[in-house]
Amino acid sequence: MRNWSGAILGMTAAGVLSGLIGLGAASGTASAQAPSLRDAYRRPTEIPFPASNPYTPEKAALGKALFFEPRLSGAENMTCSSCHNPSFGWEARTETSVGAQNTRLARHAPTILDTAWVGPFFWDGRAPTAEEQAKGPIQAPVEMNLPLDQAVARLRAVPGYRTRFDRIFPGQGVTADTIVAAIATFERTVVSSYAPFDAWVDGDEAAISPEAKRGFGLFTGAAGCSGCHSGWNFTDNRFHDIGTARSDLGRGALEPGNPLAQYAFKTPSLRDAAQRSPYMHNGMYASLDAVVAHYVGGGIDRPSRSPLMRPVSLNPSEFRDLVTFLGTLTGAKQAVTLPVLPN
Ligand code: HEC
Ligand code: HEC
Repeated sequence: MRNWSGAILGMTAAGVLSGLIGLGAASGTASAQAPSLRDAYRRPTEIPFPASNPYTPEKAALGKALFFEPRLSGAENMTCSSCHNPSFGWEARTETSVGAQNTRLARHAPTILDTAWVGPFFWDGRAPTAEEQAKGPIQAPVEMNLPLDQAVARLRAVPGYRTRFDRIFPGQGVTADTIVAAIATFERTVVSSYAPFDAWVDGDEAAISPEAKRGFGLFTGAAGCSGCHSGWNFTDNRFHDIGTARSDLGRGALEPGNPLAQYAFKTPSLRDAAQRSPYMHNGMYASLDAVVAHYVGGGIDRPSRSPLMRPVSLNPSEFRDLVTFLGTLTGAKQAVTLPVLPN
């Protein structure tokens, strides 16, 4: 375990952090009010790292270099950040991703925010860990298009990498496993911003508007959103058909015998959502208004659609309240410095 603020200190706007500490969240102090529903949404104060791949600052810095490293793509034209861009909530503006050979992928790039608390990975959950996940895009011909053994050979040929890998992974050096261990460690340090909603959870009544508070009531009440978008990260990490997909079976391809897995996708976090348009596994909605309209309509009605999808009826002012609440889950953009890559 690693102190949360310590691990992200280098990448977070000072104001965001001082806000956090000033409000007592870093020490876990409860708000002045009696325990309430909103306490179930309090941010954790530490990033969990797995014992099999513990945190060190050097490993995270190496992983960051690799995340921005074009030499991990066949034609040296693509990086992880091409599709997971920090300016757009670590996603891409395109509806579905565009890969190394200019081919369009079937799905929209999800965020890498809060990787430490997410899993399994991909919209259909086919990768159990962030380490396993990272092997996918490097090798996939439509993504970065570089076989892992060639990635290893390329990095070994760079003295600046060889010495860093040898120091951080004694006895192993540059291997496919150490490459993805470093990348996953970096990803776990990428944490969503402390948002106005968090200040409210921490007891600052003025941090969000009365409209947003009513929206939170709808979200956790009549609109039934928290049935799937649960906890501080607003995801149950499970798969549901919410009536979006027409041909992509999502989780159904992995669980052909499970009727509720057909057209089901992993519930995405709603953290920093305002920066992450377009939305859904296929980028079909450009705005949060359009997403809420989807829930009012209910999406495609079919046997696989989740029983947790309630009929949502909202009058115009409730509709605005819900959208306003969603807006309070987005904090200030965090400054991210580009790593200088070794030769
Ligand atoms: C060509 C665009 C592209 C590139 C390059 C790319 N990704 Fe992705 N990434 C995607 C798409 C699209 C998905 C979703 C695919 C799916 O679910 O089937 C994804 C999924 C992910 C996820 C899963 C997130 C979650 O919540 O399930 C992580 C983590 C991730 N990528 C990290 C990386 C890393 C690390 C790299 C570099 C080694 C990388 N990506 C390179 C487009 C890209
Ligand atoms: C049955 C579970 C479930 C319920 C209930 C639910 N969601 Fe979702 N939500 C999902 C899933 C799954 C997705 C992704 C679906 C896809 O990609 O096709 C999603 C996507 C979203 C997105 C897009 C996020 C992104 O990063 O693309 C937003 C915003 C959202 N939901 C808000 C809401 C709101 C507001 C409500 C209540 C009106 C709600 N959800 C109710 C499961 C649910």
